[in-house]
Amino acid sequence: MSGPNTDYDPVEVTPLRADEVEAQVEAALAAVAGAADLEALKQVRLEHAGDRSPLALANREIGALPPQARKEAGARVGKARGMVNKALGERLAVLEAEHEERMLVEETVDVTLPTDRTLSGARHPITMMSERIADVFVAMGWEVAEGPQVEAEWLNFDALNMGADHPARTMQDTFWLEPAEAALVLRTHTSPVQARTMLTREPPIYVVCPGRVYRTDEIDATHSPVFHQVEGLVIDEGITMAHLKGSLDHFATAMFGEGITTRFRPSYFPFTEPSAEVDLICFVCRGIDADSCRTCRGEGWIEWGGCGVVNPRVLTACGVDPEKYTGFAFGMGIDRTMMFRHGVEDMRDIFEGDIRFAQPFGIEI
Ligand code: PHE
Repeated sequence: MSGPNTDYDPVEVTPLRADEVEAQVEAALAAVAGAADLEALKQVRLEHAGDRSPLALANREIGALPPQARKEAGARVGKARGMVNKALGERLAVLEAEHEERMLVEETVDVTLPTDRTLSGARHPITMMSERIADVFVAMGWEVAEGPQVEAEWLNFDALNMGADHPARTMQDTFWLEPAEAALVLRTHTSPVQARTMLTREPPIYVVCPGRVYRTDEIDATHSPVFHQVEGLVIDEGITMAHLKGSLDHFATAMFGEGITTRFRPSYFPFTEPSAEVDLICFVCRGIDADSCRTCRGEGWIEWGGCGVVNPRVLTACGVDPEKYTGFAFGMGIDRTMMFRHGVEDMRDIFEGDIRFAQPFGIEI
């Protein structure tokens, strides 16, 4: 075995020579000072303080030296590396501060700059009107019921005491679906929801049903093949026409304000008996100046919808005992109600989808 290598001259280990280490430190410090941004500094750190940097490689040589030389070289390289790391740390702090300052300036948002206005949409006035109407009844404890727009002929007509040959069927110009054997229609009114409700719920029933209905009407200022109705149905013990009148008066006042009540005119619907047309006191002249009123044209009243006491034949067809229960029903046009309430003169405005029409109604949630 040989003894320690006393002949070994540490001066021969070039990377550890004092002048060499100094030169590395100088080069490193110059590179650090020259690093213009954080990205460049990262590169400098890799080159001058990374695992493969000259000083790191020199450090690895130390282990091979004899003890005395090792101590000396260790101190030299350690000090050198310390200086480089310190310089790196200081430069990093400076560059980071600069970076932050620049971001603050570059990313400043001028909240006073004018913006491009994005038009916010509006809910359709008919939707809002339907909900407003439903709310009047929900506030009295009624429920909202719904039915499909493609409806069985039986529910749209037969269950409502309008058999195949009933003349009243011609009152409602109907869209029939093909094939004819399917016996499906686009519902002509919301009254089939009466039948659906009675067939699926036990009395007492207090429901309101706003919905879309269809008839083969030509489009003009007061007609559209698609329009909206709201149906009301109450089935309970001891219900009379007086309850109907009270409910509709409340509805009218809620829609049009204090003092706007209703009157009934005798009429005919197959599903109600007795039946009535509902008129509103003219909300423009209030019946006072009727002669010069252009809205009611001298009538003092405005036609609003239909109503009546549910025909016992309808109760029977829908599984409700007519000996125990009575009820009332009514149906109004929602579009018509909206035209009255908001002075809309042409029904086509409601359906054309022009945002300029919907916008003034504002956004209600
Ligand atoms: N469904 C009837 C119509 O559309 C209105 C109505 C409803 C009448 C309920 C009486 C009772 O003409």
